[in-house]
Amino acid sequence: MGWSKERLEEVARTRLGGAKLIVVANREPYIHRYKNGEVEWIRPAGGLTTALDPVMQACGGVWVAHGSGDADRAVTDMSGRVGVPPDDPNYVLRRVWLSKDDEEGYYYGTANSMLWPLCHQVFARPVFDPKHWETYRRVNETFAQAVLEEAEGGPALVFVQDYHFALLPRLLKAARPDLVTAQFWHIPWPGPEKFLVCPWAKELLDGMLGNDLLGFHTQHDCNNFLDTVDRALECRIDRERFAVQRAGQSTTVRPFPISVDPALAQEYLGNNWEDRATALRKKHRLGDRPLIVGVDRVDYTKGIPERLQAVDRLLHKHPELKGQFHFVQVGAPSRTHIPAYRDLTEEVNALAEKINWEHGTEDWQPVVFLNEHHGPEDIFVLYRAAAGCIVSSLHDGMNLVAKEFVTARDDERGVLVLSQFTGAARELPDAVLVNPFDVEEMADGLYASLTMSGLEQERRMRRMRSQVDDHNIYRWAGMLLSEVGKRVPDPVPVSVSATEAEAEEPEPVAAPTARERRQEQRIARETYLTAMYLASAGV
Ligand code: F6P
Repeated sequence: MGWSKERLEEVARTRLGGAKLIVVANREPYIHRYKNGEVEWIRPAGGLTTALDPVMQACGGVWVAHGSGDADRAVTDMSGRVGVPPDDPNYVLRRVWLSKDDEEGYYYGTANSMLWPLCHQVFARPVFDPKHWETYRRVNETFAQAVLEEAEGGPALVFVQDYHFALLPRLLKAARPDLVTAQFWHIPWPGPEKFLVCPWAKELLDGMLGNDLLGFHTQHDCNNFLDTVDRALECRIDRERFAVQRAGQSTTVRPFPISVDPALAQEYLGNNWEDRATALRKKHRLGDRPLIVGVDRVDYTKGIPERLQAVDRLLHKHPELKGQFHFVQVGAPSRTHIPAYRDLTEEVNALAEKINWEHGTEDWQPVVFLNEHHGPEDIFVLYRAAAGCIVSSLHDGMNLVAKEFVTARDDERGVLVLSQFTGAARELPDAVLVNPFDVEEMADGLYASLTMSGLEQERRMRRMRSQVDDHNIYRWAGMLLSEVGKRVPDPVPVSVSATEAEAEEPEPVAAPTARERRQEQRIARETYLTAMYLASAGV
């Protein structure tokens, strides 16, 4: 049976029993802001909120997040609560208020100037600032307080998101050992050599081991995490069950590749997408030329300058393509308070201008850079209207743009050019896979997106769509809930669907390394000696 919203609802009911679901994520799923004196709401850019909002709509509960919009306070109650989605509320958003100093040290500092470059293979130097770290600690405590208030008086499953809250699970367990805690780490986990340069590595790891379940996108990330823990902390690692035992607590570490809700594509496209595509083309002077699109936050992990260089190379290699297509880059402004992000925006603007100056004509500009926030309604129209979509991340935990593009293509056309360094590349081998550091290969990928035969496009797209349909966001959440639900006390009797979910659990596969084998032998020896001791003591 496939995974749907209804099936997830059923699994949530059986697996959670009476426990309340509390999601904690820095980013809120809906932001209220003032526009021309009126309050409006928007959905922020970024994969996490896109992925989790449908899950919350299916399961209900509370989402605890930083209230970041300038009109956020205007619509919440005294405790910072508001029903969402704003047009048809079915779960609660609890906003936590942070000062400018908090944001500086916790979000811009530790989370995005230290952990972000530390976890991505992008050759950006992490910033280790003790003041930022202090603030990160304090903000994790602030969120712990909000979660404890929400969980008061009953059992709860707290599902923590991402690298903003590495310390939160331990804080929660210390205050309420009965809470069940799970965390999903949405970005890659590096090898131990890289992670352990962090002066606060042990504290971060200890915080994360406050979880009952810890999820990453890939088995590779899980293995890196276990190797890091193994090097840094006194603990027992069970490589067979992929669990860490420490101070009487056990944390299961498993891969759960995140995904999207394929049904949303139809919702965003509606039945007038063609009219909206025509309007977009007119607005940006795109004529009826084929489009290659890129959709990202402007972030240095996304490889945006690299793909612009590939456009330039493509035009040098194939001058016959001049005037024949547009490359449209939607670049949502992101973390612009951090100098590296500001510099990147300037770099992208300068590159786009240079390419347009060199190759463009009076009535044709190859690159169109849309450096502003766009809602999913516009983005899906672009996906649907494009000849191809390029995702050239230098390193990416998953990348949901790749999966969204596929869900938008009910015509079974369109070419996905995809970096081999994304989690998505493991699930979508039918994309044109490229090394984003190799400008020649990227230019050839772009060429393929403009020239691939219809039959070949259809063959590839059909397989990719079937993969994303089956491995959708409801499956991701269902698998996670099934796993962590085992720790929720007194669940109501397990239904057929929940049992099926369990039967479907993917077994992590990883051949043991020599060190793992040595460790297994050591554990077996210890187990044997303990058994001998107990036998001789007559126990
Ligand atoms: O993928 C990592 C992540 O932080 C997600 O949590 C989020 O979807 C995305 O990047 C956007 O980042 P931010 O919330 O900082 O805008």
